[in-house]
Amino acid sequence: MSSTEAGQVYRGNLNKLVTKILDERGFDMGRYRTPYLERRIGARLRTLGLHSYRQYADYLDVHQDEYGKLLDMLTINVTDFFRDSTVFDLFRSDIVPAMVQEKTRTRQRMIRAWSAGCATGEETYSIAMSLLEGFGQGKGSFVLSVLGTDLDEKALAAAKRAEYPIDKLEHIPAPLRLKYLEVEGDKFRIRSNVKSQVKFRRLNLFCDKPISIVDVVFCRNVFIYFSREQQEKVLEMFWTALSRGGYLVLGRSERLAPSMAGRFELVNSRERVYRKPRLR
Ligand SMILES: C[S@@+](CC[C@H](N)C(=O)[O-])C[C@H]1O[C@@H](n2cnc3c(N)ncnc32)[C@H](O)[C@@H]1O
Repeated sequence: MSSTEAGQVYRGNLNKLVTKILDERGFDMGRYRTPYLERRIGARLRTLGLHSYRQYADYLDVHQDEYGKLLDMLTINVTDFFRDSTVFDLFRSDIVPAMVQEKTRTRQRMIRAWSAGCATGEETYSIAMSLLEGFGQGKGSFVLSVLGTDLDEKALAAAKRAEYPIDKLEHIPAPLRLKYLEVEGDKFRIRSNVKSQVKFRRLNLFCDKPISIVDVVFCRNVFIYFSREQQEKVLEMFWTALSRGGYLVLGRSERLAPSMAGRFELVNSRERVYRKPRLR
């Protein structure tokens, strides 16, 4: 068998596994990029001492709890407070004041943010703290609503607990620590002045309805794992979710799919910040 044929057989079995999981659990992992799937499932096969996707499909039939473990493998929850801190600097210094100015001009009080693929909540709380800081003296004039969504229920449960190990404290700017956190022994807790502005819920970016209407979407280090087609669908979803003039913040190594690039204005290329144009 030539290496191309071997590749096709291999790919064919991966497709069968994708179809099996879609049929049995309704989860379409075919929307992730193929090399990502191969890497993550390959690691799981090695852990289990299995040698093919076919064997893995048989294993799933006998060990139903493996579906959960597979999902854990695919949803990598690595995250941190103020991850890539310069984007949060830009958010606090430029974007939030611009949002505040626009809300004041149009006499609106509600500011809504969505952290899509929020993992264990660090990004969501960082957004909420940045918004509260960016409001400055005008804090009392606005009603804030920050929503964190993710596919992974375990990660969401941790996000709702709002309790983190003390070593994560170093990523949070010192002036914010006293205002928004409570340290207790080897952990810290998010204070109610931030927590009360934040909600979490499960949302699968592959198939669930978008949130509407939001002024800013953060979706960072999530869709890098999605197929190109799925990236386009997710960007379309964000476009629909955003208010006119609303902001989209992607991760450092992510960019707009070419088909969507014309629909957004570029705000800052280094920080991957875009904007849905206002109606002229
Ligand atoms: C690496 S974390 C990113 C966390 C945070 N946005 C950050 O940049 O630090 C990726 C998150 O995307 C979530 N995710 C993966 N596929 C998803 C999907 N189809 N729908 C919603 N969330 C998904 C994973 O569960 C994981 O928590």
